[in-house]
Amino acid sequence: METVVSGIRSTGKLHLGNYYGAIQNFVKMQHEYNCYFFIADLHSLTTHPTSADLHGNVKQVLVEYLAAGIDPEKATIYVQSDVPEIAELYLYLNMNAYLGELERSTSFKDKVRAHPDNVNAGLLTYPVLMAADIMIHKATKVPVGKDQEQHLEMARTFANRFNRLYNKDYFPEPYAFNFSANLVKIPGLDGKGKMGKSEGEANAVYLSDPPEVIRKKVMRAVTDSGPTAENQEKPVEIQNLFELMKVVSPAGTYAHFDLLYNTCQIRYGDLKKQLAEDMIVAAAPIRERIKEIDQDSSYLRQVARHGAIKARESASKTIREVREIIGFRSF
Ligand code: TRP
Repeated sequence: METVVSGIRSTGKLHLGNYYGAIQNFVKMQHEYNCYFFIADLHSLTTHPTSADLHGNVKQVLVEYLAAGIDPEKATIYVQSDVPEIAELYLYLNMNAYLGELERSTSFKDKVRAHPDNVNAGLLTYPVLMAADIMIHKATKVPVGKDQEQHLEMARTFANRFNRLYNKDYFPEPYAFNFSANLVKIPGLDGKGKMGKSEGEANAVYLSDPPEVIRKKVMRAVTDSGPTAENQEKPVEIQNLFELMKVVSPAGTYAHFDLLYNTCQIRYGDLKKQLAEDMIVAAAPIRERIKEIDQDSSYLRQVARHGAIKARESASKTIREVREIIGFRSF
């Protein structure tokens, strides 16, 4: 059976972009593959969370994974820092990751541009740690959003380079995976990039947002003054609202508003109201489960322990073999 790995960086609450871009795939894949889903708390250290925030964020993501339907009986759910073998593999891979290729990564360049005062080595080698996450279980399928494609390409480079260096066909090539034909990109509400990308709460709708917060955020989403000619192309901020509608609303609702747009009869207030209600319907059951699971410390402890044990079984086997291949021998 093919092995699947994916994770989400624990920087706080999960939003609809995480859900539709990644978690929905996790939930489907857990029935068909040998799945490892983790909480990327080591990756979150690049932005220096306080120790109190670090744990709170990990807990939040764990709770929301479970609330969204990842089943610890089917998939292995674990916290990245509970598996030290990942950090060890990261060290080995770093020896064969070159400055030039790391500097060329688009996500690195974006981060440098956004935070020129915090260009640390962990940020530079983020794709190496991500490759270690995947390679530690010798995974071949990685359910991620479209923005992660370049990281997957780098993971293939590191896997192939290791194999070539040691002349052994050990690591398989991992590929981005999505159940639908295309990798999904869920836009935010600010008329710009993807959900969760820009800072500020208003761009993202969180799984834990109560209905009145969702309504307020959606009603404030950026729009223009409306179409002036039939069938004209939608400007990006309007296209984004339609993209969101495509994932949360029934197909008929989307078609209805699309027709109104194309015939210049659309009223954005109506569109937003409908979009907000459909988001509420989508998020409500998850939000209810978040509230329940959040209270259940003993369940959370049990899930995290069980996950760490299962993840380490697989990870320690890989590390044993990698050490052997590299040439570490005990006296
Ligand atoms: N980089 C991913 C993101 O930002 C998170 C991530 C870290 C990841 N390690 C991974 C995803 C390994 C898949 C596999 O979404």
